[in-house]
Amino acid sequence: IQSIEHRANLDTIEIEGIPLIDLSLSHTTDINLLVSEIGNACNNWGFFQVINHGVPLELLEKIKVAAKTFFDQPMEEKRKVKRDEVNPMGYYESEHTKNVRDWKEVFDFLIKDPTFLPASPELEDDEMRTLSNQWPENPPQFSLLMFAREVCQEYARELEKLGYKLLELIALSLGLPSNRFNGYFEDQLSRMRLNHYPPCPCPELALGVGRHKDAGALTIVTQDDVGGLQVKRKSDGVWVPVKPTSNALVINVGDIIQVWSNEAYESVEHRVVVNSERERFSIPIFFFPSHYVMVKPLEELVNEGNPPKYKPYNFGKFNAARYRSNFKKLEVQNIQISDFKII
Ligand code: OGA
Ligand code: NI
Repeated sequence: IQSIEHRANLDTIEIEGIPLIDLSLSHTTDINLLVSEIGNACNNWGFFQVINHGVPLELLEKIKVAAKTFFDQPMEEKRKVKRDEVNPMGYYESEHTKNVRDWKEVFDFLIKDPTFLPASPELEDDEMRTLSNQWPENPPQFSLLMFAREVCQEYARELEKLGYKLLELIALSLGLPSNRFNGYFEDQLSRMRLNHYPPCPCPELALGVGRHKDAGALTIVTQDDVGGLQVKRKSDGVWVPVKPTSNALVINVGDIIQVWSNEAYESVEHRVVVNSERERFSIPIFFFPSHYVMVKPLEELVNEGNPPKYKPYNFGKFNAARYRSNFKKLEVQNIQISDFKII
């Protein structure tokens, strides 16, 4: 149960939403126009939707069917691929955001399988570990789940391409060479998540996901037509719904772009409200850099008048600290970029 100040107002409100950007260059031959639209959206909202993004539309349909196929299984089947202290990939039904349980179940997998990363957050400890995906084996509806797995992998490949395209446009919008960010993702720790938000008998008390910011560089989300994702508007702090828009994908700036850009672009708080009637599916992909990347404000974007606002941090160690706190349910808050802020 959310404390009173964090509960959702479930009245539908008509309000100016996040920008919708057409990524096809056919409507304009001027890439500068597109780059400035992206820059404005990152600056004013930290969130936008894109159409004509190049991801095959039937794949957007298929990935939602894949998610439904997975979550429709009996709990005993889903538990066979449950995440644990050793493997954080797989199924999980009791995630907490800011110490309140989310009204959802998830299935997580890496887009590069296996992935190597530091085993511990301690800086002096250089032990590495391997993370690999867990996929359902020999389930009753074997063929459907094989389909689900293949669709997940195909979707990850397509979204990776779009992720690079967006990172290039964002780099250009900051006045950087288009490939400025690409090298950070060579051994990326990126992951995908299938989200299922079941109908909730008391949607005014719970949230599908409590308010949070994404810790990666960039997030791309496919959602169905139910709605529920809300963004905290930068200008006045009002929670603005992200209107489900057919064929569109939702993009948001994560904490790492906030650091790289020295806060020219900010990672914005968002949450998911639930409803008592319809289940909802959403599929985010979180773009995370390689474990050895030291995340810090880019040299080209800082100067005497605009000194770096963050100390460098190692992304692999940061990630390891996040994992550990996921299991220990520590009383203290998760590690955050604000821990590296120079005041
Ligand atoms: C998330 C998230 C939004 C959604 O998983 O980090 O913000 O629409 N999801 O499910
Ligand atoms: Ni999020």
